[in-house]
Amino acid sequence: MAISDLHVAYPENREIVEQLRPESEHDWLLVAGDVGEFFADIEWALRLLSERFAKVVWVPGNHELWTVRDDPVRARGVERYRRLVEMCRGLGVVTPEDPYPVYDGPGGPVTIAPLFLLYDYTFRPPDLSKEEAMAWAHETGIVCTDEFVLHPDPHPTRDAWCRARLRETEIRLDSRDPDLPTVLINHWPLTRQPTEVLRYPQFAQWCGTVESADWHLRYNAAAVVYGHLHIPRTTWYDGVRFEEVSLGYPRERRMYGYDGAKALRCVLPAADGGAGA
Ligand SMILES: [Fe+2]
Ligand SMILES: [Fe+2]
Repeated sequence: MAISDLHVAYPENREIVEQLRPESEHDWLLVAGDVGEFFADIEWALRLLSERFAKVVWVPGNHELWTVRDDPVRARGVERYRRLVEMCRGLGVVTPEDPYPVYDGPGGPVTIAPLFLLYDYTFRPPDLSKEEAMAWAHETGIVCTDEFVLHPDPHPTRDAWCRARLRETEIRLDSRDPDLPTVLINHWPLTRQPTEVLRYPQFAQWCGTVESADWHLRYNAAAVVYGHLHIPRTTWYDGVRFEEVSLGYPRERRMYGYDGAKALRCVLPAADGGAGA
């Protein structure tokens, strides 16, 4: 099963998380980022879920990486990420820094690969430079809060952090068992197509990197799980299933008539009973 963008600072979302339960005692849960902003909130949600599901796999979203004013955990950037990974390990939650587990239940065996790739602003319109795209965002008032509270330390920029993550992650994925399909989990979409339906196209530059455009093929994905866009749906690219699994904000669910209680998505087995690759 998979879900993302729990945003548990909202009481309505917290209530939904409290109701999340597996269908069987063997179910794994993939949590594709944006659990919350406060360290204690993130820990609360992951602890609760880890007590209910046979295994919980987590990747960070941009919100977990924010260093917000009232959070007693003051760590920034890589250090904050490291602290989150440590907290997850204490709960038995699998992170992008752990060996990729193999899921052997219905639709398996598949390698479950939690990824943390971040973004590098390359989902901007192809005819704009990074500076031009950023100026356009500022002029129109559509600027992601990451610019102010997602610090890349010790990397000079968020795109430099993204490049480092891409290189490290490629090495990990290249050394996996090549005979097994994968389920790739990343907070940001691996390909840019899902961002083409954004209400504000300016926002796409904070949504991923063109560097991962062929990873679903290169790494033999049975499915790709992502969030961040708050546009829950299933789409297919090159015959591979992409699952956007956001719970999102209460106001968005009201606007689109989306029932948060049904946000938990089945990833495997696929509708055909297998990996669906
Ligand atoms: Fe989100
Ligand atoms: Fe996000």
